[in-house]
Amino acid sequence: VGSSSRPNNLPVQRGTLIGRQRDAERLRELLLRDDVGLVSLLGPGGVGKTRLALHVATQLLEQFEGGAFLVSLASVSDPALVVPTIARTLGVRESGSLPTIDNLKARLRDTPTLLVLDNFEHLVSAAADIADLLSASSVLKVLATSRAILQLSMEHACQLTPLDLPERLNGSLDHLLEYAAVQLFVERAQAARPDFELTDANASAVVGICARVDGLPLAIELAAARVRLLPPAALLARLSEPLAVLTDGGRDAPPRHRRLRDTIGWSYELLDPPARALLRRLSVFAGGWSMHAAEAVCNSPSILTEMAALIDQSLIRPADDEGDERFSMLETVREFALEQLNASREADEARTSHARYFAELVEAAEPHLKGTDAAARLGLLELEHDNVRAALGWLVEHDRPPGAAAGRGRVAVLGHAWLLFGGARLARAATRAGRGEPTNRDAGQTPRRPRLPGP
Ligand SMILES: Nc1ncnc2c1ncn2[C@@H]1O[C@H](COP(=O)(O)OP(=O)(O)OP(=O)(O)O)[C@@H](O)[C@H]1O
Ligand SMILES: [Mg+2]
Repeated sequence: VGSSSRPNNLPVQRGTLIGRQRDAERLRELLLRDDVGLVSLLGPGGVGKTRLALHVATQLLEQFEGGAFLVSLASVSDPALVVPTIARTLGVRESGSLPTIDNLKARLRDTPTLLVLDNFEHLVSAAADIADLLSASSVLKVLATSRAILQLSMEHACQLTPLDLPERLNGSLDHLLEYAAVQLFVERAQAARPDFELTDANASAVVGICARVDGLPLAIELAAARVRLLPPAALLARLSEPLAVLTDGGRDAPPRHRRLRDTIGWSYELLDPPARALLRRLSVFAGGWSMHAAEAVCNSPSILTEMAALIDQSLIRPADDEGDERFSMLETVREFALEQLNASREADEARTSHARYFAELVEAAEPHLKGTDAAARLGLLELEHDNVRAALGWLVEHDRPPGAAAGRGRVAVLGHAWLLFGGARLARAATRAGRGEPTNRDAGQTPRRPRLPGP
């Protein structure tokens, strides 16, 4: 790195690090604390863990007499090879009678060294080896990037979330550019097309693209590279299926980053079969789900274990604002999981039990939806707005076996809730379905977010 005299193999970072000031500061603080040996930087694929880890390692280089080293583990498939890979990166070999591991420990014992272990998620069973290295040196610091928590008692875990997004559009272009997601899009779009600029005409499409991929940096980069071919508005129009469109990563990107689907697929492959099944089934929820709903709908043998595995792999996350009982997944992950669900034989059953659950939820609330506390009740249901819509859409299209009174009842119940939410057209379709009449294709219409009846 530039003029530093410290030994290192850190690649030079092109372009500036966008946003992340607070995350960077927290990592620096932790890594410089005497009582901290291991810091893990956690988050979903493509969120920016490696980028941030390298930034921080470069900033801290001068503090480490023994230098700072990037140990790339993505292509190491055997946990037993983690320590040998570290040794090789540092140029430590066996000598005479001393095995490599002893030489490595000797090298690390007294000389402050920073190791960036990149992509640890598929090697978590090697965590004990890292603990062993750390116990042999009080001046060694390890910064591990991983989609999954390492689960060591000495681990200081830092979660990295996607980049900040503007919540709404109004505001000047300068204001929009204060958001890291917008800034990253504009920077990468300019790299693809030097005459690209954020303008009043394209700003809403740019914000829409960033929001569509939930601010995930890798997805933003893949999308921005496309402005070579399509203006932002046309790109946004195609982004209803991000996995199909975001497939054009640079040739210097790691193979799993060339297509967004492969990035998520890498995490999916690391799950055991029950956790994969749960992820597939959770994709039927729209706009998040409660623990109770997941238990009722997903039919998972040990759901707490599987939910924990999905959280550990950064595939789902507790929703931060609605209490710890609610969970969600990034839209891009959901699209991936839906693809897997549709390819399995479980799709119809999963959607049917999803629809049944929300019909029952609405049914239980129904008697209260007419009285004076209607607004408050509807406010509670409002959390499930997107799920109710999905359930109703599914029932209107599919759940009309001849004479199935229960099915019609469900459609009617959901239709009523939807009417209260403000979705007149879908509600009318539900009424027709309830009478056994043909439904229209306009059933998919989403109303604006509901305007609750005034007090
Ligand atoms: N804050 C940022 N500023 C600029 N570019 C960023 C930022 N965060 C991420 N990127 C870019 O987004 C892409 C994905 O980031 P990165 O490779 O760090 O993800 P990751 O979390 O390490 O993913 P994986 O789990 O697959 O290893 C990279 O091209 C990276 O340069
Ligand atoms: Mg990485």
